[in-house]
Amino acid sequence: EKLSTASAPSLSPSPVILSQDELKKIAAYKAVEFVESGMVVGLGTGSTAKHAVDRIADLLQQGKLKDVIGIPTSKQTHQQASSLGIPLSDLESHPILDLAIDGADEVDPDLNLVKGRGGSLLREKMIEGAAKKFVVIVDESKWVPHVGASGAMPVEVVPFCSKFTQDSLGKIFEYAGCVAKLRTLCGEEGGEPFVTDNGNYIVNLFFKSDIGDLGAASDAIHRLPGVIEHGMFIGMATAVIVAGELGVTVKTK
Ligand code: 5RP
Repeated sequence: EKLSTASAPSLSPSPVILSQDELKKIAAYKAVEFVESGMVVGLGTGSTAKHAVDRIADLLQQGKLKDVIGIPTSKQTHQQASSLGIPLSDLESHPILDLAIDGADEVDPDLNLVKGRGGSLLREKMIEGAAKKFVVIVDESKWVPHVGASGAMPVEVVPFCSKFTQDSLGKIFEYAGCVAKLRTLCGEEGGEPFVTDNGNYIVNLFFKSDIGDLGAASDAIHRLPGVIEHGMFIGMATAVIVAGELGVTVKTK
């Protein structure tokens, strides 16, 4: 559903092709319009969320926002936000957030998401799940008909016998032609495992066909001992801001 649209700067007499990063920035700046003084705000992770964190810091420095407290979703975002002087806290001190802003890897028309290709899905899901509003910011390349169909769906697993968990995940989704691969630092099989901020590994699931009911898929993954969390964010987004060549669209359910 298109709630409102705003023109992107590209709508000039001679068309300008915006880069993917410029589109990410447009979406991020639009989301920061929802931030008000005094709010506790979840700060997402990744190249899109980074623009939102920069923007919040700018507005705080200019005095246009006051008393905002940020809850970072990764060590990387903590580092960025603290270096920019944003006051930070955590979920234990602030168990309810007014708003969270984060990017996504895939978004479908029901506003279900795949997140975590940046490796921060667990902290993101904990923090964004505690927010009264969760605003997702993406460029149009992230918009898909069905989540899970166009790239890795990350699952955070304990390092103990991770190959067993990896193989078990593959078996759960055999019906969808799933290939389960351990995420490595070099991207090659057999390489050193990527380690999350929580000291865990990531198994990436690649599906050849539709995984079907997302709730059932989520339950099946959660039933597997060794799994910590998966990157399907089902029904969590309040709004998705999509920036494309033709402008910005705010989608809500
Ligand atoms: C990190 C995430 C990111 O939000 C997601 O990977 C999108 O990243 P980017 O904004 O760099 O495209 O879930 O764990």
